[in-house]
Amino acid sequence: MTEDIKKGLAGVVVDHTAVSKVNPETNSLLYRGYPVQELAATQPFEAVAHLLWNGELPTADELARLRAEERRHRALAPEVKAVIDVLPVEAHPMDEIRTALSAVGAADTAGGGSVLDASGTPEENLARSVRLFAALPAIVAYGQRRRRGEELVAPRDDLDYSANFLWMTFGDEAHPAVVDAFNRSMILYAEHSFNASTFTARVITSTMSDLYSAVVGAVGALKGPLHGGANEAVLHIFDEIGDASNVVPWLDQALAEKRKIMGFGHRVYKHGDSRVPTMKAALDTLVEHYDRPDVAALYDALESEFVGRKGIYPNLDYPSGPAYSLMGFDTVTFTPLFVAARVTGWTAHIMEQQAANALIRPLSAYNGPDERHVAD
Ligand code: COA
Repeated sequence: MTEDIKKGLAGVVVDHTAVSKVNPETNSLLYRGYPVQELAATQPFEAVAHLLWNGELPTADELARLRAEERRHRALAPEVKAVIDVLPVEAHPMDEIRTALSAVGAADTAGGGSVLDASGTPEENLARSVRLFAALPAIVAYGQRRRRGEELVAPRDDLDYSANFLWMTFGDEAHPAVVDAFNRSMILYAEHSFNASTFTARVITSTMSDLYSAVVGAVGALKGPLHGGANEAVLHIFDEIGDASNVVPWLDQALAEKRKIMGFGHRVYKHGDSRVPTMKAALDTLVEHYDRPDVAALYDALESEFVGRKGIYPNLDYPSGPAYSLMGFDTVTFTPLFVAARVTGWTAHIMEQQAANALIRPLSAYNGPDERHVAD
């Protein structure tokens, strides 16, 4: 029998989702119906998290309640810090986050330890989602500080999510333009339908396992360079090129060696990524704020040269990599920042999967030896 195998599930529609819509024809991305660029231009990340989880933007009261709850859980819990501190400082930042989130999950004993109760009620899972959303900035910020040999910085109750994230990472109050650029990046990275990490979270959820396990599995999927990690790779390319005047010879050689130019191309968007103009505008603000025209010159030179030659457009990682670098994040912290943003989309999908669950269990076409026996 010849089987119709969809390698990599390419082109396979496995379920409905109301969380987001990617439309490659119009290069658009909608979160619960809203264009992502409108959300990034007008909303705080907390409001977008509420939208992804609940289907609607929050009222002023709902936003205030979410912000209060986020503040209650934003300090790094001592038991989580202790778990991070036993890891070697050279541990991969994504391994550190995966382990820390496992510790957050194990400390939540609300399920009473019974596997039958593990998947939790919708209310419990919304509360868990808020807790993870609130816990991640401290974990990411402490990770960068630990690698630099710096002490933990306690959160500030007078700052909203993005400003507090930057405070806990750098220990000083960020300029509003920097907070705004960071907030936009979090919104742009928050959700992208059935990408590999989100699908991983849904597969784990479909077994009626718990939300923490699903998020930890998603972190593992995001770690792979075919998924997260391209924003880091853009910075490595920028470091290699060094200066805008080197773009042409560098690109000649890179293309002759058949290298992939990181930050360009996309499996779904073939005519440009709808998130790029918003993030590029944020990068422009940062270039001005930090007075780094050299970064803009390199960015523009590589983009125009590569697009001109190949007709392949930048994806979100192209502007976000240099933006995070200008803000002061170490390159290895970029994928952890992606986790802090995407945890909102992951948990929205986990709750959607739970609400209409079917065990995800595909078939395989066997191509091993014919039946044989030990005594033959
Ligand atoms: N640099 C150089 N060539 C590229 C390229 C890039 N960034 N992206 C695509 N191409 C080439 C492919 O090699 C292919 O060439 P070929 O026809 O000679 O084999 C051609 O363009 C068409 O590729 P396509 O089928 O459209 O790409 P894909 O869907 O297989 O791959 C990516 C999509 C994202 C995996 C790919 O563009 C890539 O590796 N980009 C760099 C990594 C990156 O930025 N990832 C983040 C994605 S959000």
